[in-house]
Amino acid sequence: MARHLNTIPGRLVLMLLLIHALLMPPLFYVISSTVERTMKDSFIDNVRNFAQVFVDRFDRLEADVTEQRIIELLDSAMLSGQGSYAAIEVGGRTVGSSLMNVQDAGLFREDFAFGEHDDDVYYLSLPVSGLAEPAVLKLGYDESPIHEDLVAVRLTLIYVLSAYLLLTLVVAGFMSATIVSPLRWLQTVSRAISSGDVDRELKPDSRLEEISALADDLERMRRNLVGINARLKEEIAERAQAEADRRQLEEQAHHHERLRSLGTLAGGVAHEFNNVLQPMVLYLELALEDLPADSPIAENLLRVQELARRAKGLSQQILTFSRDDSDPRFVTENLAPIAEEAVTMIRALLPATVDLRIDINPDCSPVKCAPEQIQQLLVNLCNNAHQALSDDAGYISVSLGEVQVSDQLASRHSQLDAGQYVLLEVQDTGMGMDPATQERIFEPFFTTHEVGKGTGLGLSVVHGIVERHDGEITVESKPGKGTRFNIFLPCDGRGEQSR
Ligand SMILES: Nc1ncnc2c1ncn2[C@@H]1O[C@H](COP(=O)(O)OP(=O)(O)O)[C@@H](O)[C@H]1O
Ligand SMILES: [Mg+2]
Repeated sequence: MARHLNTIPGRLVLMLLLIHALLMPPLFYVISSTVERTMKDSFIDNVRNFAQVFVDRFDRLEADVTEQRIIELLDSAMLSGQGSYAAIEVGGRTVGSSLMNVQDAGLFREDFAFGEHDDDVYYLSLPVSGLAEPAVLKLGYDESPIHEDLVAVRLTLIYVLSAYLLLTLVVAGFMSATIVSPLRWLQTVSRAISSGDVDRELKPDSRLEEISALADDLERMRRNLVGINARLKEEIAERAQAEADRRQLEEQAHHHERLRSLGTLAGGVAHEFNNVLQPMVLYLELALEDLPADSPIAENLLRVQELARRAKGLSQQILTFSRDDSDPRFVTENLAPIAEEAVTMIRALLPATVDLRIDINPDCSPVKCAPEQIQQLLVNLCNNAHQALSDDAGYISVSLGEVQVSDQLASRHSQLDAGQYVLLEVQDTGMGMDPATQERIFEPFFTTHEVGKGTGLGLSVVHGIVERHDGEITVESKPGKGTRFNIFLPCDGRGEQSR
């Protein structure tokens, strides 16, 4: 209840009821007493005029008028109007109307105001001079019709005032509804906005000046807040992105650092290994020279020599990866013919059933590179791609093109600066890799292949080559969906020397 009283319609109705409760009784009293006075005054005026007419009639009578005639006159006074008493007092004798009860004859008393006595009859007496002796005409008129009329007037007044009060309340209700319903709508929409639906517009269906102005102000506020909100969200997203980029760069740098220290270690081992291997090969050759060609020992020594050559190849690969390789020949050249040559070699190495797709742009800018190493890189990548294809289904694609690395892309890769790059891509539709494998593929000796099938050096060598060319290698892969290696090599002549 108290809740309803605290609403605009509740307050308005309560106030109107209070005002009317205070004003209506005096208003009712003033109107009804004015009407009552007017009705009573006009009753008395009428009665007196009426009585005067009969006084005039008595005045015009002959002196020898009969009592019968007098009674007739008194009867007519009774019949016309609301007469309830008519008598004339002539010389101490009272003659009354025949229409009057005998006992009524003694009721007469003089009234000076309406309703002065309780008998509902207004009595008045007037002197009559036309008769032989001085006479007084006494008349009584029924007051009750006036009382009934007054009751009817008061009832009507109550009805009219009640109808007026009702109409006022209805109008107040309607007015407050036209104010309250757009306000409620504003409230509903404001709530929706505050709980996240910020695109709701605050435009209520109201022609009321104050409400439209309030809604306009609120709408302006909403638009400002939406703008601020959007800017804040953008800023937060930008910061989160910057933070993610920073973390990614840190991880990359850490990864490179780890690979470099592994390279140093592996390079050291390979050097020592080579130092042992080289005299071994030399002594082998000397021993072979001293033996006849058909000696069974020579056959075994030839096998040892073959194994020593493989060991040399391995140590060479490790040195390539560790960047400890005795300096390869760097030239500034278009990569297209180098890649073409490598692809021809790869095609010869792969089974004929493998679908090898080539897309080499011959007009790329020249790159400072060691051609054999680029070829080695392509061979290693294609080799891996082939191993990833199950039953030679799917395809391998090798492409060469030129790209502009944007600041945005450069900011996400520790080894990339914005600028022009030649992009070598090797893609396959093979088995792909999970993120844990991708993490470790460039580590030397990391392999998922069974013993004897993989050395785990292929991608380490690729990584070493890319690093030496001041480039960047990225990998995109999903298990079951294939793998793509992107190798960015700078066009602007930066190379080994700039590192
Ligand atoms: N194209 C590829 N698709 C799926 N996995 C690959 C691909 N290339 C490399 N890998 C994964 O990276 C590992 C390391 O590769 P690599 O250094 O060439 O060594 P290896 O080939 O001797 O195993 C592989 O064992 C394989 O798990
Ligand atoms: Mg490999």
